[in-house]
Amino acid sequence: MNVTSEPANFYTTLQRRLHWLVIVLLVLQYAMQGLMAEAMAAIDRQETLTFVSFLVTTWHTWSGISIAAIMLWRWQLRRNVVPVGAGKLPPWRSKVVRLHHISLYVVVVVMATSGALHYYLGFEMAGTWHFFTKWLLLGLIGVHIAGALTHISNVDRVFQRMMGSDSLR
Ligand code: HEM
Ligand code: HEM
Repeated sequence: MNVTSEPANFYTTLQRRLHWLVIVLLVLQYAMQGLMAEAMAAIDRQETLTFVSFLVTTWHTWSGISIAAIMLWRWQLRRNVVPVGAGKLPPWRSKVVRLHHISLYVVVVVMATSGALHYYLGFEMAGTWHFFTKWLLLGLIGVHIAGALTHISNVDRVFQRMMGSDSLR
């Protein structure tokens, strides 16, 4: 399909940038998970934190809160400016994609909330949720990337409208 005849069913530049930002921040959260667990173990042993552990805990907590805040912002943008996520798919597939996107929003927010409850309020059970949710989120992201890649050469432009460089807006 010609780009100019595409209905205004694209994500805005802001939405696409925020999508990238969340990807980068999530990669860093997972890459630093070992250091974060070590820092928490040191806190539990009542040891003085090293400078690196201080940086890691500060980054992890603030970055986690920022990711959740960005996702809530994106949710608002999505509700206000974007029509249904998978515009040219059959209705049942659109529904599945929509549910999948909603589950990404929910699981990211649960991840950040459980981390905060564990870190700031010492709620042990929340630490367990944080641990299990990390696998749930990884699984959802895996399905998401696999799903996105199946559209890479499709005429439906589902891949390009988020990952391409030719946004109409
Ligand atoms: C979407 C945001 C977040 C992601 C993807 C994330 C991811 C992770 C991962 C993968 C781990 C390692 C878990 C393990 O193997 O034990 C971890 C640990 C941890 N996170 Fe997060 N996190 C997020 C937000 C937060 C927030 C907002 C806080 C606190 C304000 C937080 C506090 C913690 C703590 C305290 C640990 C150490 C748990 C322990 O070992 O006792 N996280 N996080
Ligand atoms: C390299 C990794 C990724 C690729 C290739 C990718 C690709 C895409 C594509 C092509 C879309 C458009 C789908 C449509 O319009 O139906 C999309 C939407 C979306 N992606 Fe990703 N994505 C990636 C990582 C992530 C991550 C890590 C998250 C967050 C956990 C995420 C959350 C979303 C959400 C919520 C939407 C729906 C649009 C919105 O509400 O802003 N994506 N992604």
